[in-house]
Amino acid sequence: MDTKLLTLKEKDLVQAGNIIREGGLVAFPTETVYGLGANGLKEEAVKKIYEAKGRPSDNPLILHVASVEEAKSLWAEESEIANILMKEFWPGPLTIVMKSRDFVPRITRAFLDTVAVRLPDSYEARKIIENAGVAVAAPSANLSGRPSPTSYTHVIDDMEGKIDAIVCGRDCNIGIESTVVLVEDEKLTILRPGQITKEDIQKALDFHRKKDLTVEALSNEEGEQINRAPLSPGMKYRHYAPRAKMIIFRGESHKVDLEVSLREDTLKREGYKVGLIDFSEESLKDAARLLFARLREMDEQEVDIILAKAVSESGIGFAIMNRMIKSAGYEIIEV
Ligand code: TXA
Ligand code: MG
Repeated sequence: MDTKLLTLKEKDLVQAGNIIREGGLVAFPTETVYGLGANGLKEEAVKKIYEAKGRPSDNPLILHVASVEEAKSLWAEESEIANILMKEFWPGPLTIVMKSRDFVPRITRAFLDTVAVRLPDSYEARKIIENAGVAVAAPSANLSGRPSPTSYTHVIDDMEGKIDAIVCGRDCNIGIESTVVLVEDEKLTILRPGQITKEDIQKALDFHRKKDLTVEALSNEEGEQINRAPLSPGMKYRHYAPRAKMIIFRGESHKVDLEVSLREDTLKREGYKVGLIDFSEESLKDAARLLFARLREMDEQEVDIILAKAVSESGIGFAIMNRMIKSAGYEIIEV
């Protein structure tokens, strides 16, 4: 298949919307990562997403909408909590999961009775969704298992020849995927951490006098995630994985520095090509923005082993560590 490369010009955004409405696949930038969009209400179109990504069919997709009204039309229930979340955090990097209406194809939601919905902040993304005139199913536009794409060049690497078009925009500003939140009977659980943190959500609920409500968040531990896998099937697969073996070092920073430099030295002498992931000089915000690109660079450089320094788990750091730990296949050395 010939993949069209589109720009951010209005006429290209119109074309992108048309292709999606008619059942094709278009990758486009959002504020979090590039998404691979298809008409989320058309079974045949959604099937193509799973094929292009090589995605397991039990991992449900997020429907992207252009307005709150459109979101509400997809859910079978109203919720005061969801209303607060939409008011405070939309448009933006928050995905809300609630009971689905029957007309949302079962393949879109991987046969769950819930559906995930997000109203993105990116102007271009919203234009494309508006032009499509339908809810747009859009997972991250990477091959399944690879790091999510934060630049159009990553999308070209993974998807050229497999999809109808790629909207080549700017690099993504946030760099990690949206926070995914399950809302059920006035109870709230964070299924996937992101830029919007548990504390941000708790604060918003407190502000709206919902102090009695506590926000639960799944921990970073694999065991717990696997036990709770049916909640968010996406969490049980190996994710964000560079081709190289990756090991994370966590502990006091001077000890981590020492251990990493010793290991680097030894491995190099043994003939391995070693890559380092070290965000100690960067803000957490920049670490989030750059992480997936760094992982892809390591692959390009054909690194054998990546030694990564853990970042602080405060704020967005929790979401960064969630991605790093998965990239490393849960290999963490405490020093
Ligand atoms: O920032 C993002 O969310 C990006 C951009 C493109 O919007 N999209 C994205 O989609 O990350 P994807 O498919 O890579 O991740 C969707 C996550 C998966 O972990 C999936 O299991 C979870 O959302 N999810 C989707 N529908 C769900 C549902 N009904 N119940 C529980 N989890 C759900
Ligand atoms: Mg993904």
